[in-house]
Amino acid sequence: MTSSIEHALSRYPRETLTRTPTPLDHLVHAGARLGMDLHLKRDDLTDLALGGDKPRKLEYEVAQAKAAGATVLVTCGSAQSNHARLTTAAARRVGLRATVVLSRDERRTFQGNLLTVYVMGADVRFAEIDDHWEIEGHALRVCDELRAEGETPYYIPVSGSTPLSCLGYVRAGLELAEQLKAAGLRPAAVYTPFGTGGIFAGTLTALRDLAIDCPVIGISVNGDAAQCQANLDTWWNAISELLDRDSARTRGATEIHDQFVGRAYGDATEACLDAILLMGETEGVLLDPVYSGKVFAGLCAHAGEGRWGADQTVVMLHSGGTPALFAYERELRAHLTKRGVVLP
Ligand SMILES: Cc1ncc(COP(=O)(O)O)c(C=O)c1O
Repeated sequence: MTSSIEHALSRYPRETLTRTPTPLDHLVHAGARLGMDLHLKRDDLTDLALGGDKPRKLEYEVAQAKAAGATVLVTCGSAQSNHARLTTAAARRVGLRATVVLSRDERRTFQGNLLTVYVMGADVRFAEIDDHWEIEGHALRVCDELRAEGETPYYIPVSGSTPLSCLGYVRAGLELAEQLKAAGLRPAAVYTPFGTGGIFAGTLTALRDLAIDCPVIGISVNGDAAQCQANLDTWWNAISELLDRDSARTRGATEIHDQFVGRAYGDATEACLDAILLMGETEGVLLDPVYSGKVFAGLCAHAGEGRWGADQTVVMLHSGGTPALFAYERELRAHLTKRGVVLP
């Protein structure tokens, strides 16, 4: 017999890094503007160093690191990596050091996430790379160097996504399902970002386990839909194995949209900037240009196509990332100026 998902989850050690549940907010004004009943799952409000999705993922990785006797957490990402910020914070919280290997990209301004890793005393190393995802090789070499110096590094991959850390989003999905039930809501769709796909796959697993069968819609922030689909298959199978579920069971309706990425990862598209301003103006909620702004841009585009009606409940997962806003000063300035706003 298959055990309950909660029971299967309880087998995996977890280091608490944030208080949950995060709120599920009813966005009355943004919903009215878009013509739907809109709700926002506030994972931007996880309470570790400015929040986001990573604390939930890192709870499982940090437990592993401690069990392995690690002295330093090592990870990598873009110059404005949210994951670097939160891995550094998690390491500090449990008394470890952090080494972060960051790409020497155009967002290497001493602002936002990059500023925060220095404030928390990370050992920051920059790497020259052409492709955002090439950085892993550099980080693994840094682990070798640290080992040679007598450290015990624990490596956490880009975006913090591993089969184990995806369990953090299974827990988040269960939390969301509980909140929806308590509020008497039956969603017509749940939107999430799709980077590596860890958030998407974990959330999907939980919702399906609790028989919430609406489309789960991923807005890609980087890869094309085929790549994302392949990642989803990998995570789905790995999570299924960890939780003793048949990976061949139905996944229900899923969608991955890749047309909101723009020219490349981190491109602050017009639609994304519009979405950020719409959310800010209607709700006083901050989104970011790399993840949550892209998700909301996708949701707004679907609203514009008339996909959702006023009587339909749509849920968007806000995965955080807002500190990166400060590294997009130029784009935001230009966008606001174009709208006629006079800036200082
Ligand atoms: C704020 C934010 N949202 C979403 C993601 C993407 O999550 P995933 O890789 O699980 O799809 C990231 C990854 O770095 C992130 O920093």
